[in-house]
Amino acid sequence: MTAGMRDGTAPPQGAHPRGARDGAEPIQITTAGPPARPLFTVMEATAQAQPNIALVKYWGKREPVSNLPAVGSLSVTLDELWTRTRVRFDETIAADRFELNTRASAETSRVTACLDRLRGLAGTQRRALVSSRNNFPTGAGLASSASGFAALVAAAAQALGLELSGEEISRLARRSSGSAARSVFGGFVELPAADSSTADVAATPLLAASAWPLGVTIAITSTKAKAVGSGEGMQHTAETSAYYDAWVQTAAADLVEARRAVLARDFETLATVSERSCLKMHAAMMAAQPGLVYWNGATVECVHCVRALRESGVPVFFTIDAGPQVKAVSPPEHAATVRKALAAVPGVIDILHSGIGGGVRIIESEPS
Ligand code: PMV
Repeated sequence: MTAGMRDGTAPPQGAHPRGARDGAEPIQITTAGPPARPLFTVMEATAQAQPNIALVKYWGKREPVSNLPAVGSLSVTLDELWTRTRVRFDETIAADRFELNTRASAETSRVTACLDRLRGLAGTQRRALVSSRNNFPTGAGLASSASGFAALVAAAAQALGLELSGEEISRLARRSSGSAARSVFGGFVELPAADSSTADVAATPLLAASAWPLGVTIAITSTKAKAVGSGEGMQHTAETSAYYDAWVQTAAADLVEARRAVLARDFETLATVSERSCLKMHAAMMAAQPGLVYWNGATVECVHCVRALRESGVPVFFTIDAGPQVKAVSPPEHAATVRKALAAVPGVIDILHSGIGGGVRIIESEPS
C-alpha cells in the first residue's frame, strides 16, 4: 500500500510513499552524546478505517481457518464513523498489548493472530503495542471489527515497511474478520464468495462514493455489546439452521442483482435486494437451534417505520447486522426526514448519520 499499489490501482487516500513521512521508517532511539549508537528501534504507524455496512450480507464460512466466505457480499464504506489504530513494534516489549479506547482489551489474541501474519511477511518476531480508538459503540452491530482489522493491518504493514497492495491488505484483513476485507476500500465494495478451488479472496471496489453519494442513518436501540459474536453465530447457523443451505444457495443471485443495481444507480432494485438479503440472513439465524435473535422490539419498530416511509414516497431501505441497530439507506436529501421518523420510534436511544466514504489510509498520529 505504501509505495503505490503493485496492482496498478491508485493507493488508498492518504497513503504515502515509503519513507516520505515520519514514522514510516524505523525511528532510531539513541543514547545522549557520542557515539550515537542505536539503543533500540521503534517502528510505528497509525491508520484510519471506517466501518462498512453490507447491503448483501456475508454470513457463513466455506473454510473457518482461512476465514473464506461461503457467500459473496456487497457493502458501502462509511465516512463519519471511524477506527484509528496506532501500531508500534518495539523490541523491548515482551508480548503484544492491545488497548481499545484507552483500556486494556480482552481481544489481544485476535490482534496477535493478525500481527503474526504480518510479522511472518516481514520476518520479525518483534512484539507490538496497539492502541485503537472508535468514535462509535464497539461490538454492538456497528461493524467495529471491520474498521478495526482494516486499520490494524494497514498500520502494521506501514510500521513494518511492507509494501502491500490494497488487495493484499484486504486478504490479510479478511483472515481476521470477513467484513474487514471490504473496509480497505471506499464507496461500494464487493467481497466474492470462495468456491472449492479458491485458497484466498480479497474485496474489490465496485463504485466510488462520489458516483452515488447515498447516506446511512443508524438508529441505535442498544449500546450493549452483543452476546454472540459473528464468528460463533455463523458457525451455529451453519451447523443447526434448516435454512442455512437455502441462504447460501440464493445468495449468489442477490449479489448479481445488487451489483447491477449499484452500477445502474437503481435505488428501488437495491432497496428490494438489500432488505431481502438482510431478512434472509436473519431468518437463517433465527431458524438455528437455539435460534439466534439479535433484534429487540425497537429494531422491529424501526423496520416498520422505514417501510412506512417508503410507502409514503421517501426512497429509503433498511438493513440490520449481527446486532439490534437499524441502518436506513437513503439519498442525502431525504436523510433529515428519515432521522426524524426513526428518532420518534420508542426505544431508539440515539441516531447517527454517515455518508459514504473512502478506504483505509495512513494518518499522521493517533488523536488524543
Ligand atoms: O466480519 P464478521 O466476521 O464480523 O461478520 C460480519 C457479519 C455481518 O456484519 C452480519 C454481515 C456483513 O456482511 O458485514
